[in-house]
Amino acid sequence: MCGIVGYIGDKKASPILINGLLRLEYRGYDSAGIATIEDDKIEIKKNKGRVNKLYELDGINDLKGTIGIAHTRWATHGKPSKENSHPHMDNSNSFAVVHNGIIENYHELKSFLIEKGYNFLSATDTEVIPNLIHYYYNQDKLDDENKVLRAVKNACKNLKGSYAIEILSKYNRDKMIVVRKDSPLVIGKGIGENYISSDIPAILSYTKEFYLLDDNEIVELSRDKVQFYDKDLNIIKKKIKSIEWGASSAEKDGYEDFMIKEIYEQPRAIRETIGAKLDNNHIEIEELEFNKEYLQSINKIYIIACGTAMHAGVAAKFTFEKFCKIPVEVDIASEFRYRDPLIDERTLSIYISQSGETADTIAALKLAKSKGSKTLAISNVIGSSITREADYSIYTHAGPEIAVASTKAYTSQLVLLTILGMYFAEKLGRIDKTKIDNLKADILKLPSQIEEVLKETKLVKKIANKVYKEKDMFFLGRGTDYAVSLEGSLKLKEISYIHSESYASGELKHGPIALIENGVTVIATMTNPDLLEKSISNIQEVITRGAKVFVITSEDIKNEELSEIIKIPKTNPLISPILSVIPMQLFSYYISKEKGLDVDKPRNLAKSVTVE
Ligand code: AGP
Repeated sequence: MCGIVGYIGDKKASPILINGLLRLEYRGYDSAGIATIEDDKIEIKKNKGRVNKLYELDGINDLKGTIGIAHTRWATHGKPSKENSHPHMDNSNSFAVVHNGIIENYHELKSFLIEKGYNFLSATDTEVIPNLIHYYYNQDKLDDENKVLRAVKNACKNLKGSYAIEILSKYNRDKMIVVRKDSPLVIGKGIGENYISSDIPAILSYTKEFYLLDDNEIVELSRDKVQFYDKDLNIIKKKIKSIEWGASSAEKDGYEDFMIKEIYEQPRAIRETIGAKLDNNHIEIEELEFNKEYLQSINKIYIIACGTAMHAGVAAKFTFEKFCKIPVEVDIASEFRYRDPLIDERTLSIYISQSGETADTIAALKLAKSKGSKTLAISNVIGSSITREADYSIYTHAGPEIAVASTKAYTSQLVLLTILGMYFAEKLGRIDKTKIDNLKADILKLPSQIEEVLKETKLVKKIANKVYKEKDMFFLGRGTDYAVSLEGSLKLKEISYIHSESYASGELKHGPIALIENGVTVIATMTNPDLLEKSISNIQEVITRGAKVFVITSEDIKNEELSEIIKIPKTNPLISPILSVIPMQLFSYYISKEKGLDVDKPRNLAKSVTVE
């Protein structure tokens, strides 16, 4: 996944472009580059390395152009290098292109272009785009103001795969063209200037007025005009969207890292996600038109996602099955889409995606839709690709999540899924009202309970300082405590690079307990009184084999025998992961900081995996 930015106006483009790239580095940061037009010449500055390395390039400060495109890369085809960094030009240096996505048929296109006499300087898939545009430009004998536009249209008709591309041309030096298919792209509307970006936060400090592009839309931008076309260059109209939240939401607001900021934003994120749906004991989800008959017709619910989003689904399964009495299967999107899942019109499939751009999750949704399933997307990004594909979409209100490691999105997803499960249950009438009302009351307490947990970080920090040099850790739990252990283990892996595994406590004695030896660190979670006895005996089993056990449990659970206990407020076990995950998030954060790692941008990872 990569980040792209564009600017067209009267200001010097380069600082605006670099500033935008710095806000998109969470999407990729192994190389970066910018291109601007001055007189009739396209100037390019690019190199391997982080965005701020652009300032070290010769002549970067001499770029006077007021139109430009820019790119920060997460390598897919071609290793990180100057040659493989974007922007890419055609052989005649008439077109410059930056691209986010994957051109799946680039080998075929490259061979075609080589036959036509083109040569290639990079190992990227992207480099075929400017040369293909040049090829069609030369084929077009009509010399009018839309010649570049037609060349772009014709080139894109040959591209297979995903692409958000920005194009500069020396033949149209007062215009810029962008095209979007399966990769995110937004346009920020200014006065006498326009901005382009992979996401809203990167340019939110310049404007609050946005156009959200849909697939196969081509846009020609000048300083005063934004003209939209479909893939055949028929003119289309787009509505402008005003964004309420401010640029500061996408800044660190005084926190050392985005991740710790986003951990501490969870009370607000949960409050706002609840507020939109659960008010005065009444649940309203106006985006959904599911009546009782439809819900009664459902004989299977799939919850499909990747990573942390999938872990939220694992935890939410309990609510749907307990309250709606409908079988739920949670699956990893990249597995689901290739195992020929049993789906028909009686299947409801739910897709969870913070970014709404995860390629595997979107592909799984398209598969289920093609087999007759109604599809419901849960995303944190308004207008994201997945919400455009789904029959229905509902949103978490967590605000932009910039840190690669997902925190507030997980807790917001789980609270929204729980509300959704109760919403279905009320319509189905398959469970007594008291149980639902009690859970609603517990949900409404969550924001203040999270604030309580966030106040008690000393013990978590102390434990993190004890174990940060460990090479292996285990996370144990039963029921929803097992679900949250999956998430705790992922957090540790992705930001501290320490190997860890999550196990259902009852599963230990079927093999993994062989790994427990003197000094091994185990994080055990037990918040469900009904599973307490079994959980404690599992903990005793590992203690007797020399494990160092740290327990996360509810304040009402007394057990003097256990050492190092992190207490969380008592709540319904169905939603206890929303509280028990907080110490796990902080635990991983403190360990990563202790190890001096880049918490917000862990190695090898991108915030949203928009490639398969
Ligand atoms: C979680 O910390 C990771 N960043 C990753 O597992 C993430 O949850 C996964 O890639 C899914 O992303 P999405 O929610 O944007 O689809």
